[in-house]
Amino acid sequence: MLVLGIESSCDETAAAVLNNGRELLANTVDSQIETHAVYGGVVPELASRQHVRNIYPVVTTALRQAGVGLDEIDLLAVTEGPGLVGCLLVGHAFARAIALSRRIPLVGVDHLSGHLLSIFLGAEQPEFPFVAMLASGGHTSLFRLDSPTDFELLGRTRDDAAGEAFDKVAKLLGLGYPGGPVISRLAEAGDPASFSFPRACLEKDSLDFSFSGLKTAVALQVNRLRPTELPSRLADLCAAFQEAVAEVIVGKTMLATQLTGCHRVVLAGGVAANPRLRELLLAAGPEHDLQVYLTPRQFCTDNAAMIALAGYHLFQKRELTGAETDVYSRSPYS
Ligand code: KG4
Ligand code: ZN
Repeated sequence: MLVLGIESSCDETAAAVLNNGRELLANTVDSQIETHAVYGGVVPELASRQHVRNIYPVVTTALRQAGVGLDEIDLLAVTEGPGLVGCLLVGHAFARAIALSRRIPLVGVDHLSGHLLSIFLGAEQPEFPFVAMLASGGHTSLFRLDSPTDFELLGRTRDDAAGEAFDKVAKLLGLGYPGGPVISRLAEAGDPASFSFPRACLEKDSLDFSFSGLKTAVALQVNRLRPTELPSRLADLCAAFQEAVAEVIVGKTMLATQLTGCHRVVLAGGVAANPRLRELLLAAGPEHDLQVYLTPRQFCTDNAAMIALAGYHLFQKRELTGAETDVYSRSPYS
């Protein structure tokens, strides 16, 4: 069964072809980072316009890479939300037009479910149930998964998402957008103990997160430094900030496994590409008698392979999308 996945929720236009829910035949991602970098973040209207320009070439490139034509596609899977509405509408309208004109079944996919299942695009695959830590630019949430379509939200951020914190801290340090990759690169040369930043644990047994205080603490620390001092302290600031984010994420993930009794943990989402976070979670596994599964780095950030995979599983449950379907900005899973 061939699934064509289409993703356009934020600043990546992506298309993928997946065979039988396992074999990835094509995975094309066109990133708009250069367009938005000068503004220090995604400009929604520019993003929508660029999706309009990109969607046709990206989809045709994916089909060509896979060596298949539209006539051979059995199912279309498209991101329905959450995300920037103007961006979502581009992928959604494009997919619906193909579905209607070619009479191909269409399934709308929640972007978060795509991230949660992206672990199954890699070689090491967990059995159900497991706890999934999803840390991205828009969400930082813990889930329990009992099947590919059965999720329970355990906790989420009350303010900034982890990726958003990386992006905001990078902006205040003058490092550009997106913040995660540049901060993790600079942090390699820094000392995580050089500054003491807060770790928000919230109430006892809470699986919620809060990163806005950490971001403010970094801003206050930057204000205390003389402007001439900043360049020489950048690596230390990045390392100390990154350590605080990673420790909170690992700590809350361990708590989630204790509270649910799950012995398997999955890390997903754009922030899951962070090497220090991956290292800390892997190290915590044996201490807590847990099997840790890290989403392969190429599937951590936004892509359409994960949307095709989630769509494939919805199709198995006959959860097809009707003509009245629409996009949404906030996920029912968060
Ligand atoms: O999953 P994603 O591509 O898009 C959303 O669904 O939000 O995540 C993007 C986020 C950005 O905030 C980016 O700064 C962050 O993931 N990110 C990272 C790293 N690579 C990307 N954060 C920390 N370390 C990284 N290496
Ligand atoms: Zn995402």
